[in-house]
Amino acid sequence: MKFFIDTASLDQIAEARDLGILDGVTTNPSLMAKEGITGEANILAHYKKICDLVEGDVSAEVISTDFAGMIAEGRKLVEIAPNIVVKVPMTKDGVKAICWFTENGIRTNCTLVFSPGQAILAAKAGATYLSPFLGRIDDTTWNGIQLIEEISEIFAIQGFDTEILAASIRSAKHIVEAAKAGADIVTCPLSSILGLLNHPLTDIGLAQFLADYQKGNR
Ligand code: E4P
Repeated sequence: MKFFIDTASLDQIAEARDLGILDGVTTNPSLMAKEGITGEANILAHYKKICDLVEGDVSAEVISTDFAGMIAEGRKLVEIAPNIVVKVPMTKDGVKAICWFTENGIRTNCTLVFSPGQAILAAKAGATYLSPFLGRIDDTTWNGIQLIEEISEIFAIQGFDTEILAASIRSAKHIVEAAKAGADIVTCPLSSILGLLNHPLTDIGLAQFLADYQKGNR
């Protein structure tokens, strides 16, 4: 399973990269705004900084909602760096745009996926990645992990090669459950990735080893 970080923060991207386990980055307009990055020129320049930080794929989201606008934006985004993947929303125009990008050799991440039907459509259109939003589904009292399981089962039966990118991850537990449910990739906040490190028995065990070493070497 691959690990992406879901942020536009250069510091957090660098921290995850330095851990050695980072395979890529996802962003969205809200994450850009959270970092104070506004205006087209600044946003494009920020994508360039992210692409310079990591070797893996970087999802950059279009903000147009019509087919022509999505195509124009996507073409501009892929000029930034070879590791840019165009992030396109799951709408009628979005599906048309994913088909166009696929036919023209441009890789895509279909975002805002909330049902198995949407996942089938994104895969059929040739999306490189599709992003089911686990946390936002859990917020509605349905089950985000069940969605990953269903998509994973359908893709195995049908032989779709679109990669399932579990998004809207809210905890380390989500990461483990998404892995078990068949996600190819998880995109997570840094806090959830670091949360995987935690176990009190590790801390207790390490303290004991160090104390015993000190006793033996007095
Ligand atoms: C995915 O690519 C999205 O950027 C993201 O995971 C959304 O997460 P949120 O529901 O925590 O905003």
